[in-house]
Amino acid sequence: MTTAASYAEFAAREAHGVSPAYERLALAVARDREMLALLGTLPPAKRQPNLLFAVVRLLGGPVEDPAAFHDYVVEHWPAVEAEMRTRATQTNEAGRCAVLLPVLAALPQPLALLEAGASAGLCLYPDRYAYRYGDRLVGSGEPVLDCAVTGVAPPARLPDVVWRAGLDLNPLDVTDPADVAWLDALVWPEHERRRARLRAAAAVAAAEPPLLVRGDLADDLPELAAQAPAGATLVVFHTSVLYQVPAPRREAFAEVVRGLPGHCIANETPDVLPYPDLPEPPGVALRSVLALRSVLALDGRPLAWTMPHGQAMTWFA
Ligand SMILES: C[S@@+](CC[C@H](N)C(=O)[O-])C[C@H]1O[C@@H](n2cnc3c(N)ncnc32)[C@H](O)[C@@H]1O
Repeated sequence: MTTAASYAEFAAREAHGVSPAYERLALAVARDREMLALLGTLPPAKRQPNLLFAVVRLLGGPVEDPAAFHDYVVEHWPAVEAEMRTRATQTNEAGRCAVLLPVLAALPQPLALLEAGASAGLCLYPDRYAYRYGDRLVGSGEPVLDCAVTGVAPPARLPDVVWRAGLDLNPLDVTDPADVAWLDALVWPEHERRRARLRAAAAVAAAEPPLLVRGDLADDLPELAAQAPAGATLVVFHTSVLYQVPAPRREAFAEVVRGLPGHCIANETPDVLPYPDLPEPPGVALRSVLALRSVLALDGRPLAWTMPHGQAMTWFA
């Protein structure tokens, strides 16, 4: 796919109905020869809309008006390029804990959590957040993670987590304001509730920072898993990670996980982690962040469709 086509597709499938500002920008970039030429100097994996838009937000550039955005990027290209070459899209969404919670709460307690592709580790605190499943509140404090749940009873209690660790190619540090600023820049402009959630979750994590190890989810998982305390159920989990991992490495990861004790929870889209005979996802245009497009699974058994930021889940019948 050309860069122009990928921006047009991003506008239509990702940003439409979710971020008017990014939809406008993506459509404009798709038709902007000067901008496409600049993007063409980057490796293909670094030309993505999310990365460009987040870098401009990080640098304090305008993202509301396409003409102002164009002028900013052209004028500041050396700075934009440098950030795009070094940074990666590592959105860390604590809201995804809301779809993990029913599975975590049902496993033998206590739990030793190990997240593959943890970013800053915000999904390692499912026991510290509060949840609102319809009119049912679980836990207390901030952030409160809202999740519309269908087909399963919300958990009655929070899990008991005695150990938490994460693995990432590039772990982010919630105690470092520069890393938190990058996580903030990755949240789309209009999504103030997500921004507030990020701040609240980062404060929870910063109060007791997780063990985060720089490494590859397949190669370095066994060594980290070996550090989990005996007497706790080891739970390896991964959410919205495998789309960043080449297919042969996904298989290598699955093989490594199969060799570990405990359980594995996956929350990934079926194009990168397929299952036979999945039921149709309920309604809504596929691939929008408003759609139920990820599959929650325990030990390879698919359980539910989930929304990308944990806003909803529909349990299979
Ligand atoms: C989109 S973020 C998701 C973060 C977190 N799981 C969540 O749901 O909020 C994907 C993360 O996976 C990491 N990642 C990608 N490939 C990886 C690999 N081969 N090994 C370890 N981490 C990887 C990235 O660095 C990034 O931080």
